Amino acid sequence: MATPILKLEGVNKSFGPIDVLHDISLEVRAGEVLCLLGDNGAGKSTLIKTMSGVYKPTSGTIEMDGQPVAFTSPRDASERGIATVHQFGGTFPLMSIGRSFFVGVEPTKRFGPLKVYDRKKANEIAVRAVREFGITRIDDGDRLVGGLSGGERQSLAIARAVHFGARLLILDEPTAALGVKEAAHVLRIVLQARKRGLAVIFITHNVVHALTVGDHFAVLIRGAKAADFRRGQKSREEITDLMAGGEAMAELEAEIESHLEVHQTYLAD
Ligand SMILES: Nc1ncnc2c1ncn2[C@@H]1O[C@H](COP(=O)(O)OP(=O)(O)OP(=O)(O)O)[C@@H](O)[C@H]1O
Ligand SMILES: [Mg+2]
Repeated sequence: MATPILKLEGVNKSFGPIDVLHDISLEVRAGEVLCLLGDNGAGKSTLIKTMSGVYKPTSGTIEMDGQPVAFTSPRDASERGIATVHQFGGTFPLMSIGRSFFVGVEPTKRFGPLKVYDRKKANEIAVRAVREFGITRIDDGDRLVGGLSGGERQSLAIARAVHFGARLLILDEPTAALGVKEAAHVLRIVLQARKRGLAVIFITHNVVHALTVGDHFAVLIRGAKAADFRRGQKSREEITDLMAGGEAMAELEAEIESHLEVHQTYLAD
């Protein structure tokens, strides 16, 4: 099997006396989607911050391409090809699509003795990059990011990361705030990134979304890895139960549903 792009071995993270992550070992390879599942407060965000240079592990090791690394900052991690996309796309609502795409690395052109921002070029490249991911609704780089839908913003952020050479995409709950159609759109883009050979770490509460795109799954419970399995090894019900800490969620759901039915019959009378 190929060397993992990123590999964590026995990673612990504490904030003062509070131990948040316990002995986490994980790996993700090119062309693979690793889904990180877990309930609120399980430690998902802390884990990805530890992978992307925001926090340093208290102990344990991180390797990239088989070599030990210690990221000094998020920028250091991003320069090595780790791109993190946050829930709302992390882009700037008051900027144009072209501007936000190139923030910090704006293309310039000569204007007499001056170098000025090359709006046309920025817009062209940004729109092309987004369209390569199949987002054909975005055709004007002058539009403001704030006017895009949640799914389009996510897609823009992913296209931007890929354009600037990301090898590992970390997506923190990209579908959480989205409607069904928009979420499907983002899931399709995750699959395209995978097809292009990127490694993807996809954080979600949503078991259906995870099962749609995941090759490999890890469930976190109270900061520890409670399960680690590959596609096809567990059913949706089993995963839901795992996330709830072993409580039989399927039974609970069925029970609630039957109560609701009784309630609805009562209302209809
Ligand atoms: N800087 C910090 N100092 C102390 N405790 C922290 C800190 N950051 C996170 N925690 C604690 O670590 C635990 C895990 O938090 P984290 O945000 O990683 O969970 P999560 O799985 O991302 O949750 P959610 O699904 O709600 O986003 C929580 O109990 C949280 O209070
Ligand atoms: Mg979180």
